[in-house]
Amino acid sequence: MVKVKSKWVCQNCGYESAGYLGKCPECGNWGSFTEEIEQSASKPQNFGVLGVVNDVKPELIKDIHIGKEVRFSTNISEFDRILGGGLVQGSIVLIAGDPGIGKSTILLQTGGELAKKGQKILYVSAEESLGQVKLRANRLGVDSDNLYIYPQTNLEAIREQIEQLSPDTVIVDSIQAIYSGNITSTAGSVSQIRECCNILMNIAKAKNITIIIIGHVTKDGNIAGPKVLEHMVDTVIYFEGDKYKSFRILRSMKNRFGNTSEVGIFEMGANGLVEIKNPNELFLNERSFENIPGSAIVVTNEGTRPLLVEIQALVGTTPYPSPRRVCNGVDFSRLLQILAVLEKRVGLNLSKQDVYVNVMGGIEIDEPSADLGIAMAIATCARDVVVDPQTVIIGEIGLSGEIHPVSSIDKRLNEAASSGFKKAIIPYANKDVINDRIKIVPVKRIIDAISACISMGVNSK
Ligand code: TYD
Ligand code: MG
Repeated sequence: MVKVKSKWVCQNCGYESAGYLGKCPECGNWGSFTEEIEQSASKPQNFGVLGVVNDVKPELIKDIHIGKEVRFSTNISEFDRILGGGLVQGSIVLIAGDPGIGKSTILLQTGGELAKKGQKILYVSAEESLGQVKLRANRLGVDSDNLYIYPQTNLEAIREQIEQLSPDTVIVDSIQAIYSGNITSTAGSVSQIRECCNILMNIAKAKNITIIIIGHVTKDGNIAGPKVLEHMVDTVIYFEGDKYKSFRILRSMKNRFGNTSEVGIFEMGANGLVEIKNPNELFLNERSFENIPGSAIVVTNEGTRPLLVEIQALVGTTPYPSPRRVCNGVDFSRLLQILAVLEKRVGLNLSKQDVYVNVMGGIEIDEPSADLGIAMAIATCARDVVVDPQTVIIGEIGLSGEIHPVSSIDKRLNEAASSGFKKAIIPYANKDVINDRIKIVPVKRIIDAISACISMGVNSK
């Protein structure tokens, strides 16, 4: 007997309610509830983890034997790095990003590389026709005997093909476009995404197949669908970058088999994504004018690799009743905090000034070690002086204007020295670091950093 249930689900976070709600009590979103009809078998089945019927017994941890984790390279070293050394057999990976950022491209390239190595690949194209995928494949030079393209949106049909083909790796493009016939809500709804991911996860674990899922993001940058999707999969990777520029950054946000916050950097070219082995050269090449106030170089630590990034600031008298604060690539509340510290502890009057801050290269910085660089870009622009172009600035700012130490200072300094920088402003607590390739200037307070970083023989205009 099949029961038909109706429920209202928040499309932002997956919160369920029996009736319509204007505001979601879970995530606070307004107007995000839609009705979903769910058909389910009347007798709930008692499933354990991974869909195994509950005949499993608890085991003593010392008696549990596991096979060796099988990992294989994708032949794309930047992708391998964020995966923690390659894809793990039987794991499930979610890649999320804005439309047009290159998700289908990188996964078709990956599929092509794996197929070249002899793996059997099933690429489920739920959004594009065979012809469209073939056109992309021609552009990328992907042409292998072992790569199957399957234009299908029905999960049961996909499951059937997985049974028949027994592929080593399955790529699903995308989770929002496929649906399961078990439930009646539309493809892309929270219930469908959850159900489809659950079934795919069971297939991956039961048949030891690696499954890579593409996911779309909402306009505020989160993966569309329930948060539980991120909990279910083994690895979550975000594909970021400025769509109008050629850099693309893959960032791992969760990885059961490796480090998180690793990044892989690519450039989108005419024939697909090309790995960038030395991103610092490229980011800094974008630096056009060195003698303009309001530019500072910071060294962020992305996973195992430090990145040198230029911060630009523009400060000017506002024509508006309340001044504007605009930032790209930096957390907005972090910027407000830095501005408050600059006003109170340095005496910089910004109450009638607009402040714009931009991170060059389309990079998002979420590490506090860039605070001091951001503050220096703003302060030097406001005072019309230039930061010495050979100097990097590293440090986290506290509310009293003190500079807090940062992690991996030695790695950051090595990277800066290798990129040709001569001087580094660093937190006083990190002063014991030894590096004879770069001049180290430890600072205790934000105000000390200003005098230490400005260029001598200033040419501000
Ligand atoms: P795509 O992989 O379709 O993005 P997504 O799946 O994330 O929506 O990539 C789309 C963009 O990339 C599109 O604007 C065209 C561009 N592109 C290139 O510049 N070079 C290429 O070789 C390919 C295949 C795409
Ligand atoms: Mg696509």
